[in-house]
Order: sequence, then structure tokens, then C-alpha cells
Amino acid sequence: MKPYSEDNEIIKRAMENISLPDKVAIFDTTLRDGEQTPGVSLTPEEKVEIAVNLNNLGVDVIEAGFPISSQGEREAIKRITSLNMDAEICALARAVKKDIDVAIDCDVDSIHTFIATSPLHRKYKLKMDKEEIIKKAVEAVEYIKDHGITVEFSGEDATRTELQYLIEVYRAVEEAGADRINVPDTVGVMIPKAMEYLIKKIREEISLPISVHCHNDFGLAVANSLGAIEGGAQQIHCTINGLGERAGNAALEEVELSLKMIYGINTNIKTEKLTEISNLVSKLTGIKCQVNKAVVGENAFAHESGIHAHGVLAHALTYEPIPPEIVGQRRKIILGKHTGSHAIESKLKDLGFKVGENLTEEQFKEIVNRIKDMGDKEKRITDNDVIAIVEDLTKRTLKSERVVNLEQIAVMTGNKVIPTASVVLTIDNERYIASKVGVGPVDAAIKAIQSIIGEKIKLKEYHINAITGGTDALAEVIIKLEGYGREVTVKAANEDIVRASVEAIIEGVNRVMIMGNYNKK
Ligand code: KIV
Ligand code: ZN
Repeated sequence: MKPYSEDNEIIKRAMENISLPDKVAIFDTTLRDGEQTPGVSLTPEEKVEIAVNLNNLGVDVIEAGFPISSQGEREAIKRITSLNMDAEICALARAVKKDIDVAIDCDVDSIHTFIATSPLHRKYKLKMDKEEIIKKAVEAVEYIKDHGITVEFSGEDATRTELQYLIEVYRAVEEAGADRINVPDTVGVMIPKAMEYLIKKIREEISLPISVHCHNDFGLAVANSLGAIEGGAQQIHCTINGLGERAGNAALEEVELSLKMIYGINTNIKTEKLTEISNLVSKLTGIKCQVNKAVVGENAFAHESGIHAHGVLAHALTYEPIPPEIVGQRRKIILGKHTGSHAIESKLKDLGFKVGENLTEEQFKEIVNRIKDMGDKEKRITDNDVIAIVEDLTKRTLKSERVVNLEQIAVMTGNKVIPTASVVLTIDNERYIASKVGVGPVDAAIKAIQSIIGEKIKLKEYHINAITGGTDALAEVIIKLEGYGREVTVKAANEDIVRASVEAIIEGVNRVMIMGNYNKK
């Protein structure tokens, strides 16, 4: 697919006088600025897991952490450097000897050293004058270079610094031997035009490669990073899911897709791994992405309105500017009150029903009416809602078409007892037994089922709602499962939340297997 800058007349004309690089380097700071997200703290094992995935994703630099901050941080960075990855492993250090020494001790490939340059930081934080700051910056760079290590230097709060003074600082570190300079928009106050202007100005005076580090306080981090590229920057600092201090940093997945699909600029990123790493980072940090998050959000490729669903089913590009598989996602047609008949027809086909084959026109019309009716009343229509409608109309019992059946379940919970569940399942009429412990009875039951079903089916979402009041409330469990090339959403209700959960899982497992490419023995 051609980038939009070649295919779209308006972008093409707007870009006429802008010279762009062929390639941009991605400096990932998920493990440093990303970990500064309020409430996030990763164990060394978690940091290593993310680093391995970042390396596989193809980032050029991994900022693995800020080693002076803790013993655990140093341990994590050392473990990451010991893995000899392709990516450059970098550590952050203030422009002070003790920070630099601990970074050197972690055996990193490069050190990102910084000192604030803006009048606000000089006066209130550092209590240093302009000359002192230049002296500290130069000493830090020289000290790192004396140890034969690559240096990236940042003037913190660069975008609120007097332009001539900022250039003076960068010139001094260039002379001191820095390898790259970074321009942080520390509190995200820039706009893309200003970022472009600033980078152009710096480029007129400094010949080192320029990197940018944009924060998202006004929601402009990605746009400002791209503005910097238009001004001649060669590297972008970013984080998975846009994590970072306050409103975060530029989101790697958004930067990457804009570079690749709009500007036509290459990076080393393997875009098909983006959703997987986004999910991993959400899981390990506990920070979920909003559903409408660009590129990796749950709804980024979901279509509900009849007009949109019809459009994408006719030609994907009508409402999908990014092919979902490019980023490891897939299209979702959501059924609800805005759904049109094309989307319902495609969902039915997915579930194994075809108008004119096993469904009549009349039945199809009735299914459409009932789904729209449900959409008016309910928030979410699941696959088993559609199946229930089809069963009712065709008098066919699809639930009997099963691969997996629950024979028995027993759960044990209480004071001073580790919640434990034992399940007996049959798969293709063969009996399987498993027992597992969990944080609660539902967790234990799901783990026991999962241990029999195996890794091929994954639980992607689990929600529980009380649909009536009181201690005998009916619990409604909605789950999403993925496996055998399919994704299904299933709902079950019961007064007992363990039963509701187990019923939903078993139903979902059957749907995934029957609709997917599971081969019965
Ligand atoms: O936002 C910032 O200024 C930083 C510096 C450490 C570069 O994260
Ligand atoms: Zn930052």
C-alpha cells in the first residue's frame, strides 16, 4: 500500500517543499519514562520481558531505566544488558558523576545524560546560572566519553529555554564529544510548527543527529514528534501505549504508523507485533488502553454503524485507513442498534449460517429486527445472543453441537483455605480432570479449565455485572475468547458467579472450536 503522502493529493501538495529522511530511529523509553507513569512499578523480571519484546519489535534503542533510582532498577538493567540484544541498551543519568558511575556499572551501550536548561528550572530547581549548567553538561559528556560509551545529551525543558542559550549548550556538548543530542518538550507545550522551527534552527548550528522527546500534556506529543521530523530530526523517543510522566509520552505505535503509512518513512519496527506488545505492557503495568486508542485500542478496527460496516465489507479502505493485520489486529463488526443487515449477514456467515442455504429470507429479516430490538435495550450483543435467536427461529439446537462438555465442577473456598477448583471435562468424548488454585473460586475454576483446554484458546476479556439486586442477584458474565483463528464474545447468567463464569467459558470454547479451524479427531 502506498503511503498517504504519495496517494493523497492534499498531503502530497502540503509536503511539496519538505525534505524528509528515508529512515527514522526509534528510541523506546517505556522502561524509563513509561515506568514513571504514576502508579507503575515493574519488577526486574517484568522489565526483562518487556525489553525482550521491544528488541523483537525492532526498536533501535531501549532506555532500560534510571539506575541511580534503586537497586532493583540496576538489577533489571544489568539483566537486560547481559542478554546482548540487537537494540542499543541505554540508561538515564543526571549530569552528575555518581549517576554516570552506576550507569557505567550496568554495562550499558549508551548513556542518556541530562541537565535542565530553561530559566524556570535554572532558578527554582537547580539554582544554577547558565555557565554552571554548560560546565556540568560538558563535564558529564566528557566523563562518559572517557569510558568509551555512546552519549545522548538532553537539555531538559529545552522547549522553554532561550533559543540562543539552548544552541550554546548543544554546541558545547557537541565539542565535548556527544554522539547525539535530544530535544525534550518536557511539559508538552510545543505545537508541530514550533517544533519544526526549533529543530531547523538547531540543525543550522549543530551537526550531530537530533532526537526529540515529546510529552503529551496537550495531547500533541505524536504531532510534535512528527513536526520535529519535518524540521530534520532523525530519532524519536516514544513509549508503548504512550505511557510516561503525567499525560505520557508520544505513543510508539502512533508515531510508527504515521511515519510508515502517512509520510512513507521507514523504521526498523515490525508493525505486526504492535498489538501484542501493547497488550503485554498493559498487563504488566496495570494501565489499560482506552478502547478508542489509535492503532492498538480495542475499538480501533471495530465498526458498528450499518453504513460503516457495509462500507468496509464492500471495500476495506472505505473506513479502514490502516489494514488491521498490519498491526496485529483484526476487523470487528459489532452488533448493536446501529447495525445494518450487511453486518448481520456477515456475522451469521461467521457463525455458519447463510441466507438461502440454512436460513430463509423471512428468518433473516426477523433476525435483523430482533438484533436491532436488543440493541435498543442492551449495550452489548454477543455471539451467543445471535445463536439463541437463530435457535429460536430455526428450532435447531446448536448448543448440542459441542466439542467440550462440562461434566463436573467442585470449588472450595473459605477462611484460611486457598481457593481451589476441580473440573471434569470431556473433549470429543474423552474425559479430562484438573484441579487448580487461584486468587478466588472463579479464578481457580477458569485456570482449571484453561489447563485442560491448553494455550490455543486465550481468555481476552472477562466482565461481570449484577443484573438484579440483593444477595441472590443474577450475575451476568461476558467473556471474550480467542483461538483457532476466531474471536467470540459469549454471555452467561446465573445466581452463582462461578457457574455463570464456567458456563460462559465452556460455551465460548465450543464456539471458538466449532467456528475456528479445530479439527475433531
Ligand atoms: O521529559 C524529559 O525532559 C525527560 C528528560 C529526562 C529527558 O524525560
Ligand atoms: Zn520525559
